[in-house]
Amino acid sequence: MFSLAGKKALVIGIANSQSIAYGCAKAFREQGANLAVTYLNEKAEPFVRPLAEELGADLVLPLDVTKDGQFGALFDSIRQHWGRIDICVHSIAFCPREDLHARVMDCSRAGFATAMDVSVYSFISMVRGADELLERAAERAPTHHLATVDRSVPTLRFSPAAKPRTSPEASTTSTADITS
Ligand SMILES: NC(=O)c1ccc[n+]([C@@H]2O[C@H](COP(=O)([O-])OP(=O)(O)OC[C@H]3O[C@@H](n4cnc5c(N)ncnc54)[C@H](O)[C@@H]3O)[C@@H](O)[C@H]2O)c1
Repeated sequence: MFSLAGKKALVIGIANSQSIAYGCAKAFREQGANLAVTYLNEKAEPFVRPLAEELGADLVLPLDVTKDGQFGALFDSIRQHWGRIDICVHSIAFCPREDLHARVMDCSRAGFATAMDVSVYSFISMVRGADELLERAAERAPTHHLATVDRSVPTLRFSPAAKPRTSPEASTTSTADITS
């Protein structure tokens, strides 16, 4: 029977019980994984913390991907508590309201850049921060992840992830294609 007993899962992107990230965290927990979950800021914490407690999360930490240093602090805490990560879920997105509701052709450059930064570049930041911790998990149970691919396929570079419409998927699936 499928089990995640003892696996260490970082889940980024819980805002409420409707969040996709919450569903992932709940499913992982039901299969026996340990959880680390994040909340965006002080305003979000009262909504996220009760859900994290209900799930029995080991770690509940702040993460605003636009704030320098918060990814570093998150991974430092995980390093101290777990020493490794087996699973990372990135389930976050943001676009300024006026750009979200504008026609695509009216989207501002700044709004587009913000959306790409929060929704897409943060995936790359997450994997970079988790690199060493994922490697430690891989030593226990061999697997592939983005950072491994980056080293083993030197020609894989930035261009797929930089193509606008497909960038969220390209950041993930292009690497998955190569590892499969
Ligand atoms: N809901 C859908 O139908 C759907 C469909 C396709 C893709 N998605 C994608 O799934 C992901 C999750 O969406 P959801 O529906 O669960 O919505 P959601 O609003 O519950 O989750 C979005 C999360 O992004 C977080 N976030 C926003 N800005 C952030 C920042 N600066 N730093 C850290 N976290 C930040 C929010 O706090 C929230 O937890 C998103 O990437 C979304 O684009 C959703």
